[in-house]
Formats: sequence, structure tokens, C-alpha cells
Amino acid sequence: MFESFSPPSVDALYRTAAAYAADPRPDKLDLGVGVYRDENGLSPVMRSVRIAEERLCAENETKAYLPLAGEPGFLAGMSALLFDGERPDNVAAVQSVGGTGGIRLALELAQHANPDVRVHLGVPSWPNHQGISDRLKIPVSVYDYLNDQKDAASFDNARNSLRNARQGDVLIVHGPCHNPTGLDLPSDEVVSLLREAASMGVIPLIDAAYYGLGNPLDEDLTAIRDIIEQLPECFVSMSGSKAFGLYRDRIGILFIKCRDGASAELARGNAEVLARVNYSAPAAHGAQVIGTILSDQALKEDWQTELALMRGRMTVLRETIKATADDHPALQIIWRTKGIFSLLPFGPEVTEALAEQHAIHMPPTGRVNLAGLSPDTAVRFVDAVKELVAR
Ligand SMILES: Cc1ncc(COP(=O)(O)O)c(C=O)c1O
Repeated sequence: MFESFSPPSVDALYRTAAAYAADPRPDKLDLGVGVYRDENGLSPVMRSVRIAEERLCAENETKAYLPLAGEPGFLAGMSALLFDGERPDNVAAVQSVGGTGGIRLALELAQHANPDVRVHLGVPSWPNHQGISDRLKIPVSVYDYLNDQKDAASFDNARNSLRNARQGDVLIVHGPCHNPTGLDLPSDEVVSLLREAASMGVIPLIDAAYYGLGNPLDEDLTAIRDIIEQLPECFVSMSGSKAFGLYRDRIGILFIKCRDGASAELARGNAEVLARVNYSAPAAHGAQVIGTILSDQALKEDWQTELALMRGRMTVLRETIKATADDHPALQIIWRTKGIFSLLPFGPEVTEALAEQHAIHMPPTGRVNLAGLSPDTAVRFVDAVKELVAR
């Protein structure tokens, strides 16, 4: 059976990670994989997470299966966070295996409802949007996410892409902090785009992985809530990986906004069946951690404080880069972007030279994870780019 396989194509990010691991130079920098890092280059366990884990370790009395829809405290906590109160009856909530699992579940559900579903996607995007659709054999229609100057997200391109959309299709849009570009449409344009999509019967899928990392948490949550309120139907997938630093615990949530409470029940029930045949029952750890944090006011505030510090660090890094970049054209995009990523206007020739000559590792696409820098190494990065890229 297995010798007929062709070798898998390896994601460029994993090649970058391997090159970084194999680099013996002590001052090497990893600006590849999409995790937040602190000044010391670590992705630390957040304080509130550590406290919640200690509490759970002492208090957990069972490892029996969770309900199919997910850990009730987690579903309640995330719902209260997003809706700033009760989750409306016409919104279903289902725990997912990370944000990735939420996207997978949403697309499977859309396909279950409409076997001819197609996905509309601005590119470049997070590779799994295309990858999951391909695996499900859902055709993907792509448009250019950025404008011609590549310095802003293009509302016109997104809007024009709807011309070939059909009722029952899905339009994937990123929540705050677009990956890989770091450039978001203003929220009023997002709402107007999604309302237009909805008027054609196209279901928006909002992929919110980086809430709280580019804008204050409240601002991001309000923007997502506004979208949900203004649309008759949509999916919102929220990852617990970035904002809670729970990457390896694989926790996320999928909200499904429906026309009424009865449809939300149906959506939840069908999502549970799809989840059941994929992995049977959801995992407890990350869900219990988030549930614990969000149900304890002091822990919740501590989590928000730490998240704000993470965001503040990204701002300081951008300011440091701006102050030393002498307005270099290859770096300008960095201070126009938000979150941990920027997409720099150079390709493999430059990223290879950065790795070889300066021990600075980033993928050949030009996506840089700025969280891999400290104020000192940011200056080193700027100098290296200035040396390698002509103005
Ligand atoms: C845009 C986007 N969506 C979703 C995810 C999924 O995150 P996870 O499955 O780790 O929660 C990521 C992770 O990098 C992402 O960048």
C-alpha cells in the first residue's frame, strides 16, 4: 500500500524550522513559525494558565469523556467573552481542535449543508485554508488579498470576487491580524463586504486566531460581535493558541450564527456528529484551562494584562524598527502592520542570504514573525536587510 505514495511536499515553514535547528551559530534568530515569543525568545506559559493548571491538577476528579459539544465551562466562558453576556439562542457553540479544527468543522458543515459548496479566499492566506478545502474536495476560488502596491488589503478585490460567488458558498475572511500580511481591512469595510456576501446567500467564515494581539482585546471582540450581529448566518472560529498561548493543547471554538434558535440546535447537533466521526470526543485540558481563567475575575484580568503586554511588545518592536530603518522601502510595511507578522517584499534570494550570512531564518515567502526579535536583534535584522536589499 504505502510504497505508491509520492513524497509529501513539506510546508516551507517546516524547512525554515529545520534550517534554524541545524544552524550551529549561537546568535541565530528564528523569525519563522507563528508563535508569540518574549524578549528571551521563549513562548512562555502565561501566568493565568499556570495558576489554572495548578488548580485543575489539584481539583480534577475525573478523566471521563466530555460532552460532544465541548467542556461546558469553556463554551460558557468563551461565549460570555465574545458576547459580553449571554450567547444569543441563535448562535451555536462547539469546541474544536484548535483554530484549525474550527475551520475544518465549519467547512465540513458547510459541505454537509451544500455538497456543491465552494470557498472564496483572498491570497496569500494561511496555507491550511486552501489545504483543508482541497482535502474536502471543495473548489477554491481565489482573489488577490492585497492591492497592486501590496501595501494594503484590497476591499475592491474582495468585493469583485463575490461576482462569481453562488448561494451556499463560503467566504473565508481573517479576523484581526491577517496571516501572513499583517494588513487588515478596516472593520466598516469588513462589515460591508460580509453583508454583501450574506445578501447573496454566501456564508462568511471568520477565522479569528490573533484577537488581542494587534488591537486591544475589547476592540477585537467588539468588531467580531458586530459582524455576528449584522449577519443572518456566519461561522466564527476562535483559536485558543495565540491569545492564551495554548498552542500545543489544541483548543478552539466554532460559533455558528443561524437564522433562529431551532436552526442553531440543528447546526450544533450536526457539528457534533461530524466531530464525533473525526475524533469522537473533545479534549479537556485546554478547554478547562480557559474555562477556569474566564470564570475567575482575577485570573481573567491577569490574562488580559499579560495579553496587553504581549501586544505592547509588538508595538515597541515596530517602533524600534521604524526608528532605525531610515525609511528603507523593504521595511516600510513593518510599521503599517499589526500582530506578529509582516510580509516583506522580497523572496528566497534575500531570505537565503539572511540565513547564510546573518543566521536570520525566515520562510522564503518573506513572512517575518517579528515576535522572534528583541529590541537589540531588531536593529541587527534591520541592518542585515539594509545590507542585502538595494533601496
Ligand atoms: C490565520 C490562522 N488561522 C488559524 C490558525 C490555527 O491555529 P491553531 O489550530 O493552532 O489554533 C492559525 C495558526 O497559525 C492561523 O494563522
